[in-house]
Amino acid sequence: MQAVILVGGEGTRLRPLTSRQPKPVITLVDRPFLVYMLEWLRRHGVDDVILSCGFEPTKIREALGDGSSLGLKLRYVVEPEPRGTAGALKYAADELGGLEDRFLMLNGDVLTDVDVTAQVAQHAATGAVATLGLVPVEDPSAYGLVLCDRDHAVTGFLEKPAPSQLGGIDRYYISAGIYVLEHQVLDMIPSGQNVSIERAIWPALVGNGLHGSRAEGAYWMDIGTPERYLQGTFDILEGNVQTGVAERLGSGFLAVADDVVADGRIVPPAVVGAGSTIAAGAHVGSLVVLGAGVTIGAGARVERAVVLDGVTVGAGAVLADCIVAAGVEIADGAVVRGGAVLGEGVRVGAGNVLSAGIKVFPGTDLPAGAIKF
Ligand code: GDD
Ligand code: MG
Repeated sequence: MQAVILVGGEGTRLRPLTSRQPKPVITLVDRPFLVYMLEWLRRHGVDDVILSCGFEPTKIREALGDGSSLGLKLRYVVEPEPRGTAGALKYAADELGGLEDRFLMLNGDVLTDVDVTAQVAQHAATGAVATLGLVPVEDPSAYGLVLCDRDHAVTGFLEKPAPSQLGGIDRYYISAGIYVLEHQVLDMIPSGQNVSIERAIWPALVGNGLHGSRAEGAYWMDIGTPERYLQGTFDILEGNVQTGVAERLGSGFLAVADDVVADGRIVPPAVVGAGSTIAAGAHVGSLVVLGAGVTIGAGARVERAVVLDGVTVGAGAVLADCIVAAGVEIADGAVVRGGAVLGEGVRVGAGNVLSAGIKVFPGTDLPAGAIKF
């Protein structure tokens, strides 16, 4: 089965993680984010994927190649300018197979294990033109709100609903960004224009073959903000979402590369990459990812944190609830916590206290004691 994955967005809300790397390939635990989507789709019989890119995908191509290592065929389509979610699909139409073949379309920023096989089966059984995967949320305001009748036909689609459009209930179904589509949907999209599938196409299909497929009990998360990136990391480590990482972690919820030198303590769930060292008296975990070549100094404490490749953490430093990108240097005794996000190559001098969701852009040098907040 073919799938088109939209990855044209800029990922601005994930800066500084996306300042130097496009969102689809930022590291999530131990692999590029999009690999989770590709592994999930592969499990559901997808063998041919078209990545719809909004800008030159050199870095995405470098990370994912032609898909052969993942057991599928991966192709790249680059828009001349952003075409919007429907315009991007239209632009990729030439790559899609025969008219009789239905295909999948996906937003490229969700971590999920939704049962797409069941969604495709429902689509086939109802004869729908398009079937939207639906997941329940408490607050639908950042999503596409979908109302269905008893036979799963969509009766209303509201993209980013205003508070006045909500009914005050505690459970709404939203579009998960997982669509099963018949080719005729392509005929509804004008060529060469910026068109939103959520604002132009779904409303036009309400009452004309748009269905919803509720995914109960599945894991689903749009990883588009640092808070959700961190939560997604923890959920992978705890096995709340079905991923390839779970196999690495095993029943002990711990994956430590063979050559790691750990004099300090590692508390699962945790992943520690090749070539990392954890000095005596240091405490790593729980809910920690250390990338490759990370150095944790004596007596340092790291918990609920992502620390990517090549980071050095000084003696007695404290890291908690934070994301530290590759190559960062954290001096002795510094504190990084409270949702702080440090971009690639940042240097944090001694005595700094970084918290309250601070975002430090790549390459920034913070002298000793510069920030205590
Ligand atoms: N190629 C291409 N071109 N891709 C695009 C473009 C474009 O012009 N615009 C957005 N995308 C990609 C983004 O990279 C992302 O993977 C996907 O399309 C959806 O765009 P977002 O910007 O992330 O949308 P959203 O999260 O606010 O809302 C969408 O997703 C929700 C679920 O997470 C909507 O589809 C909602 O209806 C849905 O509930
Ligand atoms: Mg999104």
